[in-house]
Amino acid sequence: MKNLVILGIETSCDETTASVVNDRGEILSNIVYSQIEYHREFGGVVPEIASRKHLEVINNTIDKALSVASVKARDLQAIAVTVGPGLIGALLIGVATAKSLAYTWGVPLIGVNHVISHIWANFLTHNELKPPLMALVVSGGHTSIIFMQDCNSYSVIGETLDDAAGEAFDKIAKYLKLGYPGGPIIDELAKDGNKKSIDFPRPLIGKGNDFSLSGLKTAVLNYIQKEGKENIFIPDLCASFQEAVVEVLVVKTLRACEKFNIKKVAVAGGVAANTRLREFMLQSCDEKGFRCFFPKVELCTDNAAMIAAAAFPLLRKREFIGIDISPKSNLPVC
Ligand code: KG4
Ligand code: ZN
Repeated sequence: MKNLVILGIETSCDETTASVVNDRGEILSNIVYSQIEYHREFGGVVPEIASRKHLEVINNTIDKALSVASVKARDLQAIAVTVGPGLIGALLIGVATAKSLAYTWGVPLIGVNHVISHIWANFLTHNELKPPLMALVVSGGHTSIIFMQDCNSYSVIGETLDDAAGEAFDKIAKYLKLGYPGGPIIDELAKDGNKKSIDFPRPLIGKGNDFSLSGLKTAVLNYIQKEGKENIFIPDLCASFQEAVVEVLVVKTLRACEKFNIKKVAVAGGVAANTRLREFMLQSCDEKGFRCFFPKVELCTDNAAMIAAAAFPLLRKREFIGIDISPKSNLPVC
């Protein structure tokens, strides 16, 4: 019997990406066109530039995804597209393109939530993984603990009240003029630093399920101002800041697991690529007898394979969207 295949399209931020995935969780193609070089000089994503760049490359990115996968339009069971949350202009490019292709090719259209799709990068990496599980989604735009009961039911247990974890990494790197995106740069620098050298706060660590990371970011910026950048050993600062963020993320996720009696953790999103988060989470899960999963590093940041993967349960339920659908920049998880 022929495998079912879905074309995924993702344009919620600064990556234009298209991918073909089959119902066995095999990635037949995953084309990622990153715009980082166009945003770097601004130290963050410029929404107008993002929309324009998506428009320039989206058709070629989709053509390439289909040709690398050796899949024709008539082979597709569905087209899945990110409908939010994200930058509205950027989302509109992906959604408008997906709608016109679905209409022209006569293929059903599936709308996917970007935050939930990050969790699916884990199912693409670990064939044996099954819900229920506790997911920690940590990226440039999101920091949430999500309880995944089954393939169709998710509830947000906690989320950031202000900055996302990746955003805190990016803003500190920008302030120090280290480059963009800041997460991987701080991760690398921290390897040569002492994580115990500066005692930064661990906001809300013992309180509730939500996060507050802007206070930690401000504490780091105040420290730099007070000491003077030239008097600081930057790897120590990076390691100490990273340790504070990671400790908060791990402690709160594991506490949520205990509350819900869940022994499986799946970490996802761009910050899931962080070396120290992987190490700390794996060790803490080990101590508690929990199992812990991370996506392959290349599936942590935005990609369309996770969009296609997240669409399979919706295809099974025949939960399609019409071509009158509009993306929502603040689309909630549930
Ligand atoms: O998931 P993603 O590609 O986009 C959003 O949905 O936001 O995540 C991008 C974020 C950026 O903030 C980037 O700095 C962060 O992920 N990031 C990292 C690492 N690699 C990427 N943060 C910490 N350590 C890393 N190794
Ligand atoms: Zn993302």
